[in-house]
Amino acid sequence: MDNELKQVVEQAQAEAAGVSDIPTLQALRAKYLGKKGPLAAFFARMKDVPADQRRAFGQSVNEARSQVEAIFQSAHEALEAKALAAKLERERVDITLPGHGPVTGTVHPYTKVVNLLTDFFVGQGYVVKDGPEVESDYFNFECLNIPADHPARDMQDSFFLEGGNLLRSHTSPVQARTMQDHTIELPFKIICPGKVYRRDNDATHSHQFGQIEGLCIGEDASLANLERTLTDMFKYLFGDKAEARFRPSFFPFTEPSIECDVSCFECHGKGCGLCKGSGWIEVLGAGMVNPDVFRLNGIDAEKYQGFAFGIGIDRMAMLLYGIDDIHRFYQDDLPFLKQFGKR
Ligand code: DAH
Repeated sequence: MDNELKQVVEQAQAEAAGVSDIPTLQALRAKYLGKKGPLAAFFARMKDVPADQRRAFGQSVNEARSQVEAIFQSAHEALEAKALAAKLERERVDITLPGHGPVTGTVHPYTKVVNLLTDFFVGQGYVVKDGPEVESDYFNFECLNIPADHPARDMQDSFFLEGGNLLRSHTSPVQARTMQDHTIELPFKIICPGKVYRRDNDATHSHQFGQIEGLCIGEDASLANLERTLTDMFKYLFGDKAEARFRPSFFPFTEPSIECDVSCFECHGKGCGLCKGSGWIEVLGAGMVNPDVFRLNGIDAEKYQGFAFGIGIDRMAMLLYGIDDIHRFYQDDLPFLKQFGKR
């Protein structure tokens, strides 16, 4: 009898070990432990067992039953553990993949030129000033020796606001504002980078663009100082080979006035498409501060002299980086902007 029971247990063990899914295991369990199973058959034989052996018989069958139950229990647990492990493997998150990192922008070519020139001028002892973009007629024109009926106003047609103010057409009003600011002691050197506005539109002109105004006032500030400053600036921006050329010009607020060209860094003076064959590229206006401007702004014109210049920021950036259309600066075109790097 014990042998038969042992066989049942061993067979259950062997069969359970071969099962790989829970429903099959449950069916097999029912086959062994159910009413029609081999163990039930042993219990059915109980009544035929002699009375003095019944107790021992019963105990053996019960024990075998417990063993079979335990076999199925542990087979069940093993299958569950296997299923869980498979699920975890399937849903595994690969934390070793590199992350995306923060998305950082690039510096706009306009800002790059402002930063470069600010570094250059601050290195020369200039102080950076700011001024309003909505400007009065007085500061934008009058104080700069451009009275109401002066034809020079035609060169700077801007956007007028109700009440006579306008969007400043150049950064030069900051010259007048600084001269009239009594908290600033003479002599001084300032630059003012900022936006200006004009009624203009073509590949090299936009209704909005940037200028850097420069003003140096001292008892002996000279045209030679101005020319040296601008020549050094070009070499700083375009490299040591860059040369500057100065031509007479006219601005109401400077006397004498000059227009300044830089040697074409593409052809080095030979003449090419960029410089339109001349070997030179026109880049800025400058001059010695007109004594009338000193008088209009309360500075002793007998004692002081000064020089001033106005640099087109967008124009400089176009030359420096080979940009063909000024409107690219304002079009939020990411592939264009990403070319300019982080600094
Ligand atoms: N304000 C002039 C313009 O926008 C540029 C300029 C010329 C500025 C000569 C100056 C200067 O300071 O001295 O056309």
